[in-house]
Amino acid sequence: MPGVSEPEFIHRFVPAASGEPERVLLLLHGTGGNESDMISLGRELDSSASLLGLRGKISENGLPRFFRRLAEGVFDEEDVIRRAHELADFVGVAAKRYEFDPQQVVAVGYSNGANIAAAILLLRPGVLAGAVLFRAMVPLVPPALPNLTHTRVLLLSGEADPIVPVENVERLAAMLRRAHADVTLRFEPAGHALGLDDIEAAKGWLGSS
Ligand code: MLT
Repeated sequence: MPGVSEPEFIHRFVPAASGEPERVLLLLHGTGGNESDMISLGRELDSSASLLGLRGKISENGLPRFFRRLAEGVFDEEDVIRRAHELADFVGVAAKRYEFDPQQVVAVGYSNGANIAAAILLLRPGVLAGAVLFRAMVPLVPPALPNLTHTRVLLLSGEADPIVPVENVERLAAMLRRAHADVTLRFEPAGHALGLDDIEAAKGWLGSS
């Protein structure tokens, strides 16, 4: 349509080393990260996937994020909605550009990146085949629950996370389950930072699909 431009993000695409990859990992960083931050984690999680790392467009005192927040854990819902749709649209643009199957995209997000991925699950069912959400919280309450049948979600949370209260991620898990997603929620003996247990759990979960 004239005048309507395609969404664009600063990103990095790493094609699978060989053959036709089934899966594309959409890598979404935490506050202050960038498109390259999670590339080695993505490779560690799935050595045969293609990798698409994005940089969030919001700058919070120079630190990239995927949506605005009003305070720690208090989100600008209008911005969450707008940015989730923009990012979901970009997945389609990238699928055409890099010729991957848009049905095979699994998000791997950490903190703010996990929260935008959760927002995409809740607002744009069908865009993500699955998601590994490290230290996620409820990004918004959608007006109606989507149908997430056949969508697998792994929530890896820290039982002593000072940023994400246990009840918050439990609420997110319950919401996703009510939407019929296949949800695994695990608490690691950890805080907000990722540890080796998180990586092993994510690897095992990705390997079992
Ligand atoms: C963060 O530090 O990024 C928060 O924990 C999560 C968010 O703001 O989305």
